[in-house]
This record gives sequence, C-alpha cells and structure tokens, in this order.
Amino acid sequence: METLIAKYQSHGEADTVKAVADFFQVLKKHQTRVILLDGNLGGGKTFFTQSLGKLLGVKSQINSPTFNIMKIYDIPAKSKLPWRSLVHVDAYRLDGFSDLSQIGLDEFLADAKSLLAIEWPKDLPKFLRKMKINFYHVSFKVLSKDERVIDVRENVFEK
Ligand SMILES: Nc1ncnc2c1ncn2[C@@H]1O[C@H](COP(=O)(O)OP(=O)(O)OP(=O)(O)O)[C@@H](O)[C@H]1O
Ligand SMILES: [Mg+2]
Repeated sequence: METLIAKYQSHGEADTVKAVADFFQVLKKHQTRVILLDGNLGGGKTFFTQSLGKLLGVKSQINSPTFNIMKIYDIPAKSKLPWRSLVHVDAYRLDGFSDLSQIGLDEFLADAKSLLAIEWPKDLPKFLRKMKINFYHVSFKVLSKDERVIDVRENVFEK
C-alpha cells in the first residue's frame, strides 16, 4: 500500500534542509529503510542525501556517487539510530536493477543496519514490490532555479 507522507514546497536549499529534518522524524519512527530519490537532473537528490547524512551524524562529505555507483558512509553508534551504514547509490548509469547482486545491493537490502538512499531508481520499485521490501519514494519536481516540489510516499507491504 502506498501512502503520501508529505508534500513540501521548497523555495531554496534551506527549505529542503527543513523538509529533510521533517522527514527524518518519520524515518526514525518507521521500519522502512530504503529511500528512492526520483526526479529531474539537478532536482536535489544528492542535496537531500547530504542533508540526511548530517542528521545521521555522517562525518565524511557525501558527494555524488555517479562514477562509483555506490558509496557507503558510517553512521556512528553514538547517533543511537538503528542503522550503522548509509548506502548511497546513483543508478544513473545503470540500465536497470534486474541483477541486484551486480552492485551488491541485495546484501544491503537484507541488512537491517543499512539505510539506503538510491538516486535514479528506475525499475527498482518493481523488484522491491516483488520482494515485499518497504520503501519511501521521494520525487523532486523542479519549478524554477530554486523552487522544488518534493513528494514523499511510503510503500509498505504485508509480509
Ligand atoms: N530548493 C532547493 N532544494 C535543493 N536544492 C536546490 C534548491 N534550489 C536550488 N538547489 C540547487 O540544486 C542543485 C541540486 O543538485 P543535486 O546534485 O542535489 O541534484 P540531483 O537531483 O542529485 O542531480 P543528478 O540528477 O545530477 O544526480 C544544487 O546545486 C542545489 O544548490
Ligand atoms: Mg545526484
């Protein structure tokens, strides 16, 4: 079942930081730990992940993993959060996710201590639904240079 969790109007980076902080409150309460980030080039998917990283206590600079596809950041234990790793994926250069093991995504999907943020999810929702893995679907609409509409939906499946 898909539920609209929030819809944010952002007029600039600072509003997006606030939207991420608001979403973080939901993230902490729910079991869902896969975040799909969809929308146009420059929509703010990486910016969203960087803002989230700060709230998670990630020390190193999060940057676009485009050339590496996947980067893993430590979430310090003292954050008292349920996850120890932030797995940041940018699938821009992937054709699709038919082979989840190709980039080792299957391992992280199975690991309750990993939080996943995936840019350009493409056909991944189809596979997550099939596997009954819950996910957030965050979509960014670019309205002007600084304006974005950010929708957050949550997909939860009966096991
Ligand atoms: N309201 C806003 N929220 C977030 N970012 C904004 C906003 N207004 C302007 N920006 C700018 O938009 C850019 C977003 O870049 P970012 O790399 O996060 O996008 P992206 O969706 O990850 O792009 P790509 O598809 O290339 O991965 C940044 O330069 C940021 O400063
Ligand atoms: Mg990006």
